[in-house]
Formats: sequence, structure tokens, C-alpha cells
Amino acid sequence: MKIAKALSLLGVAVAGLTLFSCRADGDFQGLEYAPQMYHSVAYEPLTQIKDESRGEWLSNREDEKGEFFNSNIYNPHAMNMREPVAGTVPRNKGGYLPYRYKAFEVEIAGENVTNPVELTDEVLKDGERLFIQYCSPCHGKKGQGDGKVGEIIGGVANLTGGAYINLSEGHIFHVITKGKGRMGSHASQISPERRWEIVHYVKQVIQKQ
Ligand code: HEC
Repeated sequence: MKIAKALSLLGVAVAGLTLFSCRADGDFQGLEYAPQMYHSVAYEPLTQIKDESRGEWLSNREDEKGEFFNSNIYNPHAMNMREPVAGTVPRNKGGYLPYRYKAFEVEIAGENVTNPVELTDEVLKDGERLFIQYCSPCHGKKGQGDGKVGEIIGGVANLTGGAYINLSEGHIFHVITKGKGRMGSHASQISPERRWEIVHYVKQVIQKQ
């Protein structure tokens, strides 16, 4: 009889504990089994815990703070991720500044943006490969506006003729980056460096044949 009573009490306790553990919201993570498995020692900007005593009962940290405290005390507001220094401009992977001209500013981009990539045989070879991959479906292998996709959408520019011959490198870069009329932007598919390689290929090969 005593054993049955003890077992039923144990059952109630386990059920209660289980239900209690299910309660969790933004500030309370519920009761966790083996919490050290969940809480990273590394700084985590998105789950930052600023309460120094959180997890004290569990802690064996040398700095005597709670197990769950994971903020950087050396930063203002104990932030884990610092804000960029005021007035600085981020550069992307290739070291390029962000491209700030708007789609309609093609004229001024054409006058002001210059090609930072040095012209070499290797660059031309890359440019050719990229032109065939990204541009030839519409503009054709030789840039004459006669690609298979171009036949369907129509109105594709013949890059080898008329006023197109005189387009500046900045203008072509702008059109690849922002698109123009029925040609869409290729910024998400082609990195800035590769766009400039294509520009070299258009100017040096497509428009000189
Ligand atoms: C989906 C088809 C398509 C693809 C792919 C495409 N273009 Fe175009 N392109 C067009 C069309 C259509 C026009 C004419 C746009 C207009 O003026 O309405 C055009 C126009 C141009 C112009 C002339 C811009 C001007 O100022 O009139 C250039 C330069 C150009 N494309 C370069 C490229 C390069 C380089 C690529 C490859 C990175 C490329 N295009 C890929 C369809 C395409």
C-alpha cells in the first residue's frame, strides 16, 4: 500500500514537473534538461542574455556570473555586436563600395563609373565565358541581338551596331547592374567583379569584331 502511494505521488510530481517545463515564453525558457547543451559559451547577438545572475544555481564559471549570462561587458549596453564606427562605409567581398546609382541614373553613371578591373587576357577569357553564360541567350554569341531567348522577347539591343558602339564602360556596367527597359537586373546573379569582366569583353571583343 505504501509503495503504491509513493508511486502515485511520484507520478504526480513527474507530471507536474513535465507540465511546468512546458511553460516557456520570451523571458523564461522553461525547465531544460542538461541546459549547458543549449547555452553557448560564445557571444550570441540574437539570444543575448544580460541578466548577470541568470543560471547562478548552475554556474561554475570563473567570473562568477550566472551560467546563461553571455553579454560582452566591455561594450556599451553590454552589446555583443558593436555598431559600425560613425561615418564608415561598408565594403563588399571584393573590396568594392556599395553601388549607389539608381536605375534611372544611367547617364550620370555612364560618365562617372570607371572599370576597376585591369584588362588582361585572362580577364577577357573569363568575360567571354560569362557573356556566353549570362548575355548570349538574349544578345547572341556575337552580341548581335539574335539569341534564342531574344527572338521570343524581342527588342534586344544589337551591341555591335549603331549608337551602342559608343556606350561607355560605366554605362554597360550600370545596365547589367540595374537593368534597362525589358532587360532585367543581373546584380543578384553576377558579382561586381565579374560584371566588369563582361564589360571588358563587350568593349574589347564584341564591339571590335
Ligand atoms: C533576358 C534577355 C536579356 C539578357 C539575359 C541580357 N540582356 Fe541586355 N538587353 C536586353 C534587352 C531587351 C535590351 C533593350 C532594353 C531596352 O532598351 O528596352 C537590352 C539592352 C542592353 C544594352 C543596351 C543598353 C542601352 O543603354 O540601351 C546593353 C549594353 C546590354 N543589354 C548588355 C547586356 C549584357 C552585358 C548582358 C549580360 C550580362 C545582358 N545585356 C543580358 C535583353 C537582355
